[in-house]
This record gives sequence, structure tokens and C-alpha cells, in this order.
Amino acid sequence: MFKDKKIVLGVSGGIAVYKAVELLRLFVKAGADVSVVMTRNAQEFVTPLTFQTLSGNPVYSELFNLYQEKKIGHISLAENADLFVIAPATANVIGKVASGIADDLLTTTLMATKAPVLFAPAMNVHMYENPIYQRNENSLRQLGYHFIDPAYGELACGYSGQGKLPAPEAIFAAAQKLLAPQDLCGHTVLVTAGPTREELDPVRYISNYSSGKMGYAVARAARQRGAEVVLVSGPTFLPPPAGVKLVSVVSAKQMREQVLQAFSKATVVVKSAAVADYRPVSVSGHKLKKKDAEMFLSLEKNPDILAELGQIKQDRILVGFAAETQDLLKHAGEKLSKKNLDLIVANDITQSGAGFDVDTNVVKLLHADGKVEELPQLSKVEVAHQLLDRVVDMFAVAKPE
Ligand code: CTP
Repeated sequence: MFKDKKIVLGVSGGIAVYKAVELLRLFVKAGADVSVVMTRNAQEFVTPLTFQTLSGNPVYSELFNLYQEKKIGHISLAENADLFVIAPATANVIGKVASGIADDLLTTTLMATKAPVLFAPAMNVHMYENPIYQRNENSLRQLGYHFIDPAYGELACGYSGQGKLPAPEAIFAAAQKLLAPQDLCGHTVLVTAGPTREELDPVRYISNYSSGKMGYAVARAARQRGAEVVLVSGPTFLPPPAGVKLVSVVSAKQMREQVLQAFSKATVVVKSAAVADYRPVSVSGHKLKKKDAEMFLSLEKNPDILAELGQIKQDRILVGFAAETQDLLKHAGEKLSKKNLDLIVANDITQSGAGFDVDTNVVKLLHADGKVEELPQLSKVEVAHQLLDRVVDMFAVAKPE
């Protein structure tokens, strides 16, 4: 989503400037072309050289700098941008923009841009609560400027309260949302994620290595694109994506119940959970004690949730996942047709950059009409957007304008 996007990162003065460095790294890692504009005060905290080195672009700071103006000019910086992010945004910068004051390079480019603008304010809690600040923020919000609320915590000024710059990852996600096409508005996307656990006794269970990262990325991406999202998740260590309805489950049986409940409202189902195919026939109420003899476990089959949905899907779009260690296309293709899916995302988990606990994936997309697409190694978020792009295409074919 950020690939080749032109982002202007505006940095105004405050102790949180160091976090803007991390934010810049996230944008650059995601493939964005970032130009940094610093106020004079910001340069008191971190030198432009740091931002220049990490962005690979010159840092802009002076309105009347002949060299900078010749190279790019503040108007083209404003016009070429896909997105402006101001982090940290001081009360001063926000106040100036709200009042139409453009007396330095940052406020001038902000005034001249038509790109979406995201402010990430950071300031002392009393400044944040000051009605003058609140009025300025509200009037900018009403004009269509975007804000990410500051976080609570200990502030550099010694006070504690709301005013901290949010984590760079949170600002990154808010920026991602602004760049995402709103093409899933009106849809309800049901996503499953993570492993299931099949209890053996009060201290043991059968499970798998699924981290839930892929499913959480799909849920987050669908939400960013305007969908209502229900995420039915097995146990993971991941924070719930903002704006998503999270339903936590443990076993495959519980997952089936919750999925069937959410299914009637869903227009799209993405089943990325690694569901345990078997569960112990009997669950001991007490901890099983070891004995001298060998031990055998009797397992019975769990329901195949996706296959069941395939029978009742009607005009819903059904996407499955196939994590394989051999004969990837053969196995994934069989699952696609047997479970009556529209798309299956196949990955060979033995390949580097793919699999359970990493942030990237290498996948092939198998379509119901036999088409196979091979995607390069991508972040799981990008894979999520790729598969949602295909879903949107399918809706477009089903309902031509
Ligand atoms: N799936 C499911 N319920 C199950 C097993 C799998 O809904 N009991 C779904 C998974 O969420 C995934 C797809 O089916 O989207 C394929 O899962 P996978 O474990 O790869 O395939 P299985 O059908 O279980 O076959 P096998 O384990 O033999 O590879």
C-alpha cells in the first residue's frame, strides 16, 4: 500500500521527535518515498542528518532556502504528496494551521496541499486539555483533517495524563488507513485466525504453531478498507486490531459455533485459522499421571468449518488458506474445489520468509476458475490487501456497474 507513495513527514518540535525517526523507518521499510519537513524547533531535538540518512531524501526546513527551492519548491512538495503526516504535531503548529497562518515551510506546505493530512499531536496534558487547543483541533477535524489521539502516560514535563505521542506503529496504521481504498464499505468480513487448542486434561492441549499474524493482518486491512469486521480468533499474543469485533475462542468446536453465528451477516469469509483437525476423544477432569507403560491417545475428527461454509455459502465470497510442506499446488487446488471456495491462499511453510511466526509470507493465489497467481515475498499486511483486492474484483464481476 505504501509502495512508491509519496509521504511528507512533518516534524515539529518536542521531546517526541525521536519517535518520528522510528515512524520514518516504518514508512521507508514499507516502500514509501518520504520527504521530511522539519521546523526549526524540531532540529533542536534531532538533527536533520538523521532524517536525511534514513529517508534517502534531503530534509526541508527553510522557506527561503534558494537551493532547496530550486530542487523541489514547497508547492511541488505539497502537490506531489499522497499523504502528509505531522508527528509530533505541537499545539503551535495545529493552532497555526487552524488559524490559516503559514509562516514557515511546514505550515506553508500544509496550507498548499490537497493530500490527506494526519496530525499526531504530542504536548503537555494541560495544553492538550486547553479549550483553545481543543477548539483548534475540532475545527480542523470538521474541515476534514485527520487526527490520531495522543496516548496516556508519563509526560516528559513530569506530568502524567493524555499528551504522549502514540507509538510509531499506531501512527503508521492510521496513515495506512488513510491511503487504503474504501472499497469494502457496506461489507461484513468474517475472519478466523490463530490456532485452536484441543484440551487433553487441565494442564495439556494439542495445538499448532499458528501465531495468528496473517488473520489479524486480514482483519486490520479489511477494517482499513471500510468493512465491518468480525475476527474469530484462537489463542494468540496479538493485540486486537482497532475497530474490529474480536470473538475469542479456544477449541475448533467453539470456533465453529462462533463462525456459524457470524456467518449470516457476512458477505466475505476469510478462514486463515489453523484449525486442529482432531481432538482427544475424552478430556480428563484431572491431570493425567504418568505410568510405566506406553501411552496412546485416541483422537476424533473435528468438524471442517470451511467445508461446511462451502455448502451454505450462497453468494458470499469464501477464501481459504492452505499451509503445506509439499505438493503445494496439488493440495491447495484440491482444498479449493472440495470446500467450494472462490480463492485459496497457498503457502509452503518450509520456504524462508513464509510460515507461522514471521511477518512476511510468500503465497500463491489459486482462483476457482483455475487461474494461479504467484506473489513475491510480501509483508502479511500486503498479502492481506492483495487477497482483499481479489475479493473486490470478484464483487465487481458479480455486480457490473
Ligand atoms: N479448516 C477449517 N476447519 C478444519 C480444518 C481446516 O475450517 N477443521 C480451514 C482452514 O481454516 C483453512 C482451510 O480449511 O482455511 C485449509 O486448512 P488446512 O489445515 O490446510 O487443510 P485441511 O483441510 O485440514 O487438510 P490437511 O490438514 O490434511 O492438509
